[in-house]
Amino acid sequence: MEIAIVVAADEHNGIGFNNQLLCHLPNDLKFFKTLTTGGTVLMGRNTYESIGKPLPNRVNYVLSNTLKEIAGCKVFSHMNDAIEDARKNGVEQLFIIGGSNIYKQVFSAADTLYFTRIHSAFQADAFFPHIKKEEWQLVSSNPQPADEKNAFAHTFELYHRVDSPAHSDQI
Ligand SMILES: NC(=O)c1ccc[n+]([C@@H]2O[C@H](COP(=O)([O-])OP(=O)(O)OC[C@H]3O[C@@H](n4cnc5c(N)ncnc54)[C@H](OP(=O)(O)O)[C@@H]3O)[C@@H](O)[C@H]2O)c1
Repeated sequence: MEIAIVVAADEHNGIGFNNQLLCHLPNDLKFFKTLTTGGTVLMGRNTYESIGKPLPNRVNYVLSNTLKEIAGCKVFSHMNDAIEDARKNGVEQLFIIGGSNIYKQVFSAADTLYFTRIHSAFQADAFFPHIKKEEWQLVSSNPQPADEKNAFAHTFELYHRVDSPAHSDQI
């Protein structure tokens, strides 16, 4: 099973503030929807609460030690249990959709990184880890200028891990 991180970060790797996204970027939301629809997404409890509902047409996995049940979601209290459940259910690509806490735990075990770089700087209190060039190879880069709907220029980047990912039981 491929573990794929999906994230949008600003020029300082900021990804959120006050449990919200940094800005409204419809082009990135569209990209996210197209990529993940029909698939399985895994998120932390804060990100789930920020979204406020299960994402439609996707299997939603939520990690939490405080909530045991969320309608429309599968709740896990251990990262490995969630990953093993996805494997057992034949998931081919597990999308890790945040937030900061979850990205940090999964980063070393991920194979693929769908990274939207927003070419601006925002006030942030949640961050994505530094992408080391020795660990990740940039496979494609697709720049998107600002337009009337998208106030900030951004670039869709795809990375593949260069070295072998850590085994998921090491995270
Ligand atoms: N820009 C982006 O692409 C993007 C994407 C997603 C989120 N975000 C932003 O990121 C921020 C939220 O990130 P965050 O780090 O505060 O929260 P988070 O990663 O979404 O959730 C953290 C919570 O998940 C649960 N958790 C984490 N690891 C766990 C584990 N191994 N086992 C069981 N439960 C676990 C805990 O919940 P309990 O406290 O219930 O135990 C923990 O408090 C928001 O600002 C959001 O908007 C940005």
